[in-house]
Amino acid sequence: MVMKGIILAGGSATRLYPLSKAISKQIMPVYDKPMIYYPLSALMMAGIREVLVISTPRDLPMFEELLGDGSRLGMRLEYKVQLVPNGLAQAFVLGKEFLNGEPGCLILGDNMFYGQHFSRMLKEAVEDVEQNGGACIFGYEVADPRAYGVVEFEESPQPSEVSHQLRVLSLEEKPEHPKSHYAVPGLYFYDAQVCDKAAALKPSARGEYEITDLNKSYLADGTLKVKLFSRGFAWLDTGNCDSLLEAGNFIATIQNRQGFYVSCIEEIAWRNGWISREQLAALGHEMKTAYGRYLERLSEKGN
Ligand code: G1P
Repeated sequence: MVMKGIILAGGSATRLYPLSKAISKQIMPVYDKPMIYYPLSALMMAGIREVLVISTPRDLPMFEELLGDGSRLGMRLEYKVQLVPNGLAQAFVLGKEFLNGEPGCLILGDNMFYGQHFSRMLKEAVEDVEQNGGACIFGYEVADPRAYGVVEFEESPQPSEVSHQLRVLSLEEKPEHPKSHYAVPGLYFYDAQVCDKAAALKPSARGEYEITDLNKSYLADGTLKVKLFSRGFAWLDTGNCDSLLEAGNFIATIQNRQGFYVSCIEEIAWRNGWISREQLAALGHEMKTAYGRYLERLSEKGN
């Protein structure tokens, strides 16, 4: 079993109008790189080398132009159109051929994650689902969870619990009266059953094939695991222009302080051993920017 990845980068992002009227939200800048670099880098940090990008007929060509077939990163990238934006779970109906019976990780193209232990948590989730099957999703405490999928636990978790597995009582999509403060971020790991489970879903009251319903079907089978992101970990929103600016400022602050780039896909490909030092240098040489210089510096340092 080899976990493959899917990035869902569709939708019309009306909350960002007029910014997103003519261009995909997931291609917009978050400080110095297109938004999709952040979810793509999460998949890469999980060790996932084959990725399907799903977007609208209008926007898909732009992602193809940006990322190509993935060979420059030592990866394999494929692209698929979502004609009607009828729910996140549709990613596994559209992605059935691509997954070809393998397990799949879905990440939403506008979700950004940053923090200690993230890489380890991702690798643990991949390993767990590859070996034991089922699904692994995450919980993240937020002040107002009404805009998200919300998970309710049997016992109230301690804020510092890392990777601790908790018993789940319920899952609800955008509840008016949330039963907890734990939102479910847009990062989901599923076993090879996922395409059949997604195909069996019925549309919700708002007419969408909900990712929360897919998670509920794993919960009903007793095979859903929910792990918590700890206090201090950053799961960033890019839904409106304030949160988009805040996310950009956050990345700029961290990058400029330490000098390490966040979600630099070329660096991750190199650190994963998917491209050589020479290839990294060549990618840097193509870009006459600080980003390009960073890649060149890394390749010279060699670590
Ligand atoms: C989607 C999901 C929701 C999840 C959220 C994370 O909502 O339906 O369960 O918590 O992504 O970003 P959306 O933001 O697409 O409305």
